[in-house]
Parts: sequence; structure tokens; C-alpha cells
Amino acid sequence: MPFPEQRPRRLRRTPALRELARETRLAPADLVDALFVVEGSGVREPIAAMPGISRLSVDQLGDEAKRIADLGLGGVILFGIPARKDALGSGAYDADGVVPRAIRAMKKSTPELLVIADVCLCEYTDHGHCGVWDGHAVHNDETLPLLARAAVTAAEAGADVVAPSDMMDGRVRAIRSALDAAQLEDTVILSYAAKYASAFYGPFREAAESAPQSGDRRGYQMDPANAREALAEIETDLAEGADLVMVKPALPCLDIVRAARERISAPLFAYQVSGEYSMLQAAIERGWLESPRAIDESLLAIRRAGADRIISYFAKDFARRHRG
Ligand code: PBG
Repeated sequence: MPFPEQRPRRLRRTPALRELARETRLAPADLVDALFVVEGSGVREPIAAMPGISRLSVDQLGDEAKRIADLGLGGVILFGIPARKDALGSGAYDADGVVPRAIRAMKKSTPELLVIADVCLCEYTDHGHCGVWDGHAVHNDETLPLLARAAVTAAEAGADVVAPSDMMDGRVRAIRSALDAAQLEDTVILSYAAKYASAFYGPFREAAESAPQSGDRRGYQMDPANAREALAEIETDLAEGADLVMVKPALPCLDIVRAARERISAPLFAYQVSGEYSMLQAAIERGWLESPRAIDESLLAIRRAGADRIISYFAKDFARRHRG
């Protein structure tokens, strides 16, 4: 209907009217915090490339879990940075490694908090790749049993959810059968199903000391030019036994989030990655973008595109401002 019958500004005049017309809402429970766990004790070590985010030692995590739960957040995902790395990433499936100890500490202090363990080898390998590396390529099928062991190790420590982020073919099936064989059939699998070979992971690789020493991840992560392939990846992972699926990164992939939401019924995650965080923080520090409006708008956009849950380094900051 044309003007003057239609005056869309009528519903924008006051906060109460805008509230009435609002289509999308975002609550702390929609967000998942992400933590980097290191060896040592009493460690809260700031990450230069991610202002406001620190690496924490295991002894810090009991209290951190309480804070996250008190803020009403929808869970936490853990990344481990081991003291020693080796060719096969053995720290990823060490029951006394940083992540299993972190899970036990958090579950002890705050049993109700949803704890997700990222499952990948790149933080644990000396070459920095997400699987078994032969100097030129990552070997898919040799990597699968190692990922399965890492998932079982995290589940035995008490993780509610294991989240493979390696992008090997067949990893969801391998993990599901290993969990079943270990009588861990109730452990939820959140697959990073559509994970792109993105430049926006740069700050994470500094935080997790996981940059590949040679080559890059384009031989296993997805080409940012592709959209249909993302839907195929998501459908494959659901068929292999994933309960939840993720699109990553988030803001550069809002079209993928929307397409996935329209195609599947499983809960959909999106990951607002380190580069998205640091880009906003850097512009805010320079006074070029207004905080917190820019932060909240970025999160709202991801939700509006169709994500049920968003992993974000802004989770605690958002929750402090939107409590109750
Ligand atoms: C591990 C992993 C990465 C991220 C999550 N899991 C790094 C990568 O694939 O290089 C990136 C998260 C972020 O940038 O915040 N494979």
C-alpha cells in the first residue's frame, strides 16, 4: 500500500512502539562463551590480538563457570593450549590434558552449565594442522581415530557436547561410533559442518598458538566462494549422527546461516569468530564505531539470519548489559 495510507515511521516513533514492532530478540541464553585454557596456575594472560580476552589456567575455571552461569549464558566452549605439542597431537586425547581437567573443574563447581569441548588437533600438533600431516597434506582417514579418541576423552571428563572443528570427511560418524562403543551414547555432537577457510581466524591462531607452520587449511576447510557445498556438508553431518550443526564464521556467512535455517530442523549454531571480535574491538578502541551498539547489532544480525545459538567472545559483555 502506498503513502499516505502506509506510514511505516508510525511504529518507530517511541521506544514502546519500536518494542512492539520488534521481530528479533536476543537473550544471554542464546550466547555461548569461548575460553582458552592453559597449563599453570593463577594464570590470566591477556591475548594481544583479542583485547579483553585472556588465557586462563584450570584453577581459574571453577569461578569462571559460576560467573558464566550467573550471567545466564547458554554454555561455554573450551579450547586447550597444551604445554607440549607433537606430530600426532597427543595432548588432544590425554585424559590429564588441560581440557579434560578444565571440564572436571567446571562441572564440579557448576554442574548445570552446558560445557562444550572443541575437538581438533591443531592446538596440539607441532605442525599446527588439524590432522595427520605428511609435509604436503593432511591425511583424512588416519586422522579419524585420533579425533574419535579426543571426543571420547572429553566426554569421559564430563563434556555435555563435543564439537569437531577439523573438517575431515567422516569424522562425525567416527566420533559417534567411538562414543557409542564407550557407552557415551548420550554425548551430543555439535558439528562445525560448514566451516570456511577464513582469514577471520587469525587472532584465534595467535591465542591458541595453532597457526599452521607450513601450508594453509584450504585443503580441508571450505572455499568461501561456495554456498551449495555448505548445505551438502550440513546434511552429510546430520546423516552421520550430528545433533547440532554450526556455520563458521558468522557475519561473513549470514546467507549460509539463513539457507541452513530454512533447510534443516536441527538447532543451528553460528560462530562469531576471533577476527569478527577483534575487528569490532579495534574500531571501537579507535573511536570509529560506537560500543556497545555495534556489538549488539552484530549479534542481533546473526540471530535474525536464523542462528539459534551464537558462540561469541562478546557473550559475557552482552550478558552483563542485558541481565534479567
Ligand atoms: C580449530 C578451530 C579454529 C577456530 C575454532 N576451532 C581455528 C582454525 O580452524 O584455524 C577458530 C575460532 C576463532 O577464530 O575464533 N580448528
